[in-house]
Amino acid sequence: MTHIDRNRRQFIQNMGWGALTAALPGFAFGESRRINSTPNPGFKADVEIALTARMADVPIRSGAQTHVFKYFAKLLNGPPATLKELPGYLGPILNFQQGQKVRIFFYNELPEPCVTHWHGMHVPQMMDGHPMYAIVQGEHYVYEFEVRNPAGTCWYHSHTHELTAPQVYQGLAGLITIADEAERKLDLPNGEYDIPLVIQDRTFSNGNQLRYVLNMHQRMTGFLGDTILANGLENSEIRVKTRAYRVRILNGSNSRIYKLAWDDGTPVTVIGTDGALLQKPESLPYVMLAPAERVELWIDFSGRRVGSELELQSLPYHITSNMGRGMGGGGMRHGMGRMGMMADTLSQEGKIAIFRFHVAEQVGDSPKLPAELVPMTRLTAQNASNPEKIIPIAIGMRHMTFQLNGRTFDMDNYLELEKIPVNSVQRMRIFHESHGMGRRGGRGGGMMGMMMSLPHPIHLHGQQFQILSRKQNDPNSGYDSVKDGFINNGWKDTVLVMPGEEVEIIKPFKDYTGLFLYHCHNLEHEDMGMMRNFYVS
Ligand code: C2O
Ligand code: CU
Ligand code: CU
Repeated sequence: MTHIDRNRRQFIQNMGWGALTAALPGFAFGESRRINSTPNPGFKADVEIALTARMADVPIRSGAQTHVFKYFAKLLNGPPATLKELPGYLGPILNFQQGQKVRIFFYNELPEPCVTHWHGMHVPQMMDGHPMYAIVQGEHYVYEFEVRNPAGTCWYHSHTHELTAPQVYQGLAGLITIADEAERKLDLPNGEYDIPLVIQDRTFSNGNQLRYVLNMHQRMTGFLGDTILANGLENSEIRVKTRAYRVRILNGSNSRIYKLAWDDGTPVTVIGTDGALLQKPESLPYVMLAPAERVELWIDFSGRRVGSELELQSLPYHITSNMGRGMGGGGMRHGMGRMGMMADTLSQEGKIAIFRFHVAEQVGDSPKLPAELVPMTRLTAQNASNPEKIIPIAIGMRHMTFQLNGRTFDMDNYLELEKIPVNSVQRMRIFHESHGMGRRGGRGGGMMGMMMSLPHPIHLHGQQFQILSRKQNDPNSGYDSVKDGFINNGWKDTVLVMPGEEVEIIKPFKDYTGLFLYHCHNLEHEDMGMMRNFYVS
């Protein structure tokens, strides 16, 4: 692990409990540290799970086992299909139904604080895994929520203050699926024909241990590994039949962005985005998938020869950022990984193999792709509670740190502009701050300004949003190599904002009051403080 990480763990271990609670932000408010440690007797759970985060050694690649952090789960009550174990280091898949009441007893058995967030799910503040609710080793937290999301693919992961990146990197993540009535009517491929695919990049030592080291560039771009894992394993492939499949893809990487395509040029058929199925399938040459984004694909192997293979790849793309130019001579372009990828998130040289489908069995029949999927109301600016008001999410940088709306993360703080009335619908504009703003930090606004433009996957907790518009202000950004891979018609909780780009979204804030995070889901950016709260009241 990184030196930072090791020092931190050491640091925490060396302190007594009292010192520890005082040192953890969010623990500072004494009795207002409301750790929910007892189940609410009034909450009649349909599903109860014991979820434990602890250290383990698991087989990821051939040879020695890898030391990881891993979620282990046990079903205490509810449908047996609720948990599906995966080989490798990911937590089990949690399969929920809309309307279910879920109780999760989360046990932290790691020698560092931890908290778990249900990414993409619409749950109350205290159940959302805000870093202020981190628990230390030996403690537990009781999450209780009703599944209000429609059918789709979410995920869970650690959200610990300044430790999210290393904890997720070491394994603290898992997939969540949600099923509902509308989806059942569609009769989409299910069971073995519904394939989860979590994509992550990692770097291993010679002894097969995870290495988390940020070089100079990666301090800005985020961690980039040289080995692709699919569902927590290296070189994974799956045997399929000559029929249609549903593939649920999550980019669970810390910072790597993928440009996903089939190796034989078959168009990519998308049936779902982050938070739900689409209204109708969309066909694209490739799909861009930034950290935390999900996409559901339809792929039909009918008519393919038994013995043939289809590979999901990440295609090359080139993003020219001001940062690269600012550092002179394409300084960001160095550091070829051993798979031939460039060690920066801005560009990918060459193709990267992600996952192989091996056609192994001939079958007679296949379901057909439905022309219509689920009903969806397209929101427009007119649906906003106050169409004139646009809440800013300004991406900026000061003192070599990325910020949102001019600030870094401050546990339970929010600005006036971060206050949102509950049960409202808001227009929001995500954009890169103008370069002049860098000067406020007092350290050479020019260079600061130059370094502001990186791609940032911006994520908002709470309900899913829709994209109203995208505007590219930098004609030289290389946008052409990625622009045909965005899906702007679905429900989203994370949107990739490219250098020079401005994205307008519309988002409902229904049901729940309190603090809800918004942040960059490049996990290194998040840990450096590129995160803020909205206060919904
Ligand atoms: Cu996936 Cu706030 O996170
Ligand atoms: Cu989230
Ligand atoms: Cu970022």
